[in-house]
Amino acid sequence: MGRVLLTKRIEFSASHRYQNDAWDAERNRLVFGACNNEPGHGHNYLLEVTVAGEVDAQTGMVVNLYDLKQVLKQVLEEFDHKHLNLDIPYFKGTIPTTENIAGVLWKMLAARPEIGTLEKVRLFEDEDLFAEITAADVRAGGENARASVTRQYYFSAAHRVHSGQLSPAENRRLYGKCDSPGAHGHNYELSVRVRGEISPDTGMVVDIPTLDRLVQELVVQRFDHRDLNRDPDFSARVPTGENLTRLVWKLLVRSIPAARLDRIGLVETRGSSYAYTGETGEGALPGRGAA
Ligand code: NI
Repeated sequence: MGRVLLTKRIEFSASHRYQNDAWDAERNRLVFGACNNEPGHGHNYLLEVTVAGEVDAQTGMVVNLYDLKQVLKQVLEEFDHKHLNLDIPYFKGTIPTTENIAGVLWKMLAARPEIGTLEKVRLFEDEDLFAEITAADVRAGGENARASVTRQYYFSAAHRVHSGQLSPAENRRLYGKCDSPGAHGHNYELSVRVRGEISPDTGMVVDIPTLDRLVQELVVQRFDHRDLNRDPDFSARVPTGENLTRLVWKLLVRSIPAARLDRIGLVETRGSSYAYTGETGEGALPGRGAA
């Protein structure tokens, strides 16, 4: 029998402030921007905890969901409706970034064997940003804490799925309505995942404003409210979701090394989504995954 993964979600609210006490006020302001404002600001966090295990033959469960919920509530009692910098001892010398909060939660939950084998801790700061720590990150990181950060972006674009190398009949047979000459459009949802060590100076895997700027300049501005078929990269390539996902990787990997750029996800419609994690061997670090 193989292992089964089980995920439980739970919300909590907390405030925090980004401040490196070893830096002067100017540097803190420069690096952390408004996140450095006193006394802090708050988020509604959503925590997703995934545990893995064999299914118990008698109960039919990996772990009792009620017990898991009780443990999560106990652990989060320390965090819920608190100021993380001021109220929580773990963050005395550690900046309470999403990555570091996920790291602390991982340690607290890993110390509770009654919930089974911890596989993944995913912490959403909002709908468009989450940090994640997996068992593979913990194995690969050793003394150095590792995590991934996933950021969501949006653009709308038109395309006609059509190959110049095929006859009209073949195009129609292969692509159906997507070959309509007038083209059609989608609201694309793009997710960019960056994985690596959590910087002890910033508590971050990647600086989010820098990532936002790169993705806006290199990807969103290029495609948003455009016709993909007129993009130079699609002059001889069909603008399918697969090719668009790979093109986004290609555009970003010039600025984010392949060892850190971990996954590109693209939702084209509610029924179809794509993911790309680079060519085989490209940036292949332990802990990489297509999930
Ligand atoms: Ni914040």
